[in-house]
This record gives sequence, structure tokens and C-alpha cells, in this order.
Amino acid sequence: FQVPQAVNEPVKSYAPGTPERELVLQEYKSQYNSTVEVPLYIGSEEIKSGDTATMSPPHDHKHILGTYHKASKEHVEKAISTALEAREKWANLEWEQRAAVFLKAAELIAGPYRYKINAATMLGQSKNIYQAEIDSACELIDFLRFNVEYMTRIYEEQPESSSEAWNRLEYRPLEGFVYAVTPFNFTAIAGNLPSAPALMGNVAIWKPSDSQVYSARVIMEVFKEAGLPDGVINMVMGDPKMISDTVLASRDFSGLHFTGSTTVFKNLWKQIGDNIHNYRSYPRIVGETGGKDFIIAHPTAHPKQVATAISRGAFEFQGQKCSAASRVYLPKSLWQEIKDFVIEDLKSFKMGSPEDMSNFITAVIHEASFDKLAKFIDGAKEDDEAEIVVGGNYDKSKGYFVEPTIILTSNKRYSTMCTELFGPVVTIYLYEDDQWEETLKEIDEATEYALTGAIFSQDRYAAAHATNALQNAAGNFYINDKPTGAVVGQQPFGGARGSGTNDKAGSILNLYRWISPRTIKETF
Ligand code: SER
Repeated sequence: FQVPQAVNEPVKSYAPGTPERELVLQEYKSQYNSTVEVPLYIGSEEIKSGDTATMSPPHDHKHILGTYHKASKEHVEKAISTALEAREKWANLEWEQRAAVFLKAAELIAGPYRYKINAATMLGQSKNIYQAEIDSACELIDFLRFNVEYMTRIYEEQPESSSEAWNRLEYRPLEGFVYAVTPFNFTAIAGNLPSAPALMGNVAIWKPSDSQVYSARVIMEVFKEAGLPDGVINMVMGDPKMISDTVLASRDFSGLHFTGSTTVFKNLWKQIGDNIHNYRSYPRIVGETGGKDFIIAHPTAHPKQVATAISRGAFEFQGQKCSAASRVYLPKSLWQEIKDFVIEDLKSFKMGSPEDMSNFITAVIHEASFDKLAKFIDGAKEDDEAEIVVGGNYDKSKGYFVEPTIILTSNKRYSTMCTELFGPVVTIYLYEDDQWEETLKEIDEATEYALTGAIFSQDRYAAAHATNALQNAAGNFYINDKPTGAVVGQQPFGGARGSGTNDKAGSILNLYRWISPRTIKETF
């Protein structure tokens, strides 16, 4: 038999007058006007520790959406022992049974939970509805469906046998548990990081970002309703250092599935190294980390195409996608035309609450991010090497609003050309048209990262040459397209160097990391 063929979930339009627009708005309002209390999910228990933190919409930070309960060390230890108790039954369940749970979760999100999870992402992470739909609905559904298909492909792979010896590979999960540490910027990634290892038979401790707990709880509700057995995925929030210290001290820690900052990932890696003698197995370490994603235009590029890539690629979701364009290299000859198009585009980008669906830009995630962005913008205002071409204003009185900002610099190593800012700020450097080759080299060398990048050219030789010259500069490389918006099953996602272990989320490659196969030879 075959599992259902995975297909990408169609993106709903939410255009004025569509039923989905009304439905998600109703859901948004009802969530805004009620409060939730998010417990720790440990096994069958929903634990209210009493040690709480509040949750607010970044675009309306005085409003309270509710609270979440924080774990103590004992809670984290309990989550680990609960996961380990659940492990044997889950690992030995037939894969079809595990697949059924996650396929059902996908259908629940595609159907009854769609507006709930989208509204939670709009409120908790300040995504506009279109960004919420492609993330918390479509991408999450796609991860769940495609991973099932990839799992079956892995399981089909068997070694050669002969009449004397029957050889088989048994695809066991890792021995122990997986620790999933997830970011605020994609609800889909938050759902994928614990569920991909779980699909392969592992049990998981999941620590969502403090800034994403509001939608993370909906994912837990979906998994439970889909029939995920107790203890397979346990969600704990709280002091990140205490949680990681406790998890990484366990002898049964067997894998880290991480998306977040380069610094945090490197520190966890180091800590795992320090603890290596305590572990039963070498832990698998899979991480997607920082980026300083680029766009380069060749003098033959279509100016309008480049301009659209800048305005969409740098400013969708306020520039907080790991894939967002944040450094741009343009030939001097095209600047004026590209600039005019970008300014035109940005005029149509309204900023405000996602409740008003005509707003393209909403708030950045929290005050620390806002303050960091404001500091770099102020620096650019004062610096001789930099000039603010568009934007440059910010205001945190109601929400953490930062205008889409374009900085033009005469220094190709200017701070905002090299530092990851994670916000709606893009820096442009103009190169002399005859400096194409040098500019490619500069892109490759300017930062420690290698996540996404895009080249625009109508000259096939130039595009081919750049593709080759930048082969280590981006794990996801785009030709004549913006560097954001990778689709599961179409553009496996991930980068190398300081951007991660490049295990490509949303592909078969990622799932291989969550198994520890046993080879069985039997002679007759
Ligand atoms: N997959 C997202 C994108 O490509 C980033 O995580 O934009």
C-alpha cells in the first residue's frame, strides 16, 4: 500500500470579500478579547507551575493575551523521564501508526484549526494574514505531509541479499530523546522541529521561543487531538539556560534539533562537547542558525525584478525571516531605476496592526529587537559612510514598529552590511559596473554566514558564473527570484558555515538524522 501522495497545501487568498478573510478576523478578535493560560505539557499532564510570564501582541504590547507557565528544573527532569517512559511503545509502533497521527495533524490544521493557528500567529508574532497563512497553515501542513512521504522512502531502502544471507536494515530511532529548540519567526518550524524526529520514532522535549508560546500551544492542541500518545512530545517553557543545562546533562540526550541564533547554537554545541563522556550515544546536532542574506544584480538584470525582490525579500514579516535579504549589491548603472521602483513599492506598504488586513508591515517581535534596530538606524543617520534612502523612523509607544528602512553605504563592510539585524532594514552597496568579479568575491568573504542569496541577471553566462563563484555562500540560492519563501518539497531549506549544519528542513536529508539503523544479517 502507499501513503497519500504529499501535495503542497494551496495558499488561501484572504482577499476582501472571501469567507476566509471574515473567518480569520472573527477568530483574531475572539482571541484578542479572551485570555489563555498555557501550561507545561508533560505526558498526559497540563501543569500550571504558578511561575508565569505574560504574552502580548508585539504590535499592541500593553494588551495581555494571557500567561504561560514556566518550568522548574524538576519539571524539566520530569519531562525527560516522561519522554523516556513513552519511548519504547512509540518507537515500536508500526510506522503507519505514527504517520497517521501526523497526517491527521496536517488535516486538522488544513481544516478546523486553520484560522485558530493563523490568528494566534498574527497576534503572538505579529504576522500579517498572508505571512501567517504561508507559515502556520501551509508550511506546517507541508512539513507534516512531506515528512511522511520521505519517511516511507527511507524505509524502502534495503541492502542486497543472497540465497545464503538475508540482509535487512531496521530503521530504529535514536536511543534516548531529542531536544527541539524552536524560534519565534516560523510557527511551521516550531511544529516541525519536534515532530520530524517524533515521526521517525523518537520522543522529544520541546522548548519553544518565549515569543512564540502563544501559537505553540495551538500546535500542542493539534498534536493531542490528532492522537499523539502522551509523552512523545513534551513542551516546556522557561529559563532557557536552566532548561538546556538540565536537558544536556541527561545521559539519554541523543539529538538537538535547533533553529535560532548562531551564538546560542555554538554554545549548546560546546556544552554538548563538554558533556560528551556522559552520553550513551554521540548526539546528533542539527541546527539552522543566523544569516546575512544577499541580493546581487548583474548590470543586465531587470531593474523592476530586482526592486520587487528587495521590497518583498527584505521587508516581508518585517525582515524577520532567516532568509530575508539584508545586504544588496547593485551596479551603479541600475541604481536610479531600481531605487524609483522600490520607493514606489514601499509607498504601498502600510504599517500597523495585522487586524487591518491592508497593513503589510506590522511590529517587530520585542523591545530588545526594536532597540537594536533603532540603534543601527540612528548610527546610519549620523555616519558619513551611510545614508538613509527610505524609512528610518520607529515608534514603540503602542507596538514595536520600525519603518522599512533602506540604508545606502559607500563602505562595502559597513556595520549593517555585515551584522545580522533581523528586522526591516536592508543595506545597499553600489559597485562599479566593471567590478562584478570583485563583488562576487566580496559577497563570499564579507560575513560568516551562508544561508540564502539571490542573483539577478539576464546574461546566462554571468548567472552561471555567479552560481559557481558563490557555491559556498548560500545553502539556498535563487536565480532571478527573491531569497525568501522556500516551499517544502520544492526548495529544501538550510545553509552552511555560520548559518547551520545544512541538514535541509523539509527534505529527506533531515529525516536521516533522526534514525540509528540496525543492520541485520541472517544466514540460512
Ligand atoms: N523557509 C523560510 C523561507 O525560505 C525561512 O525559514 O523564507
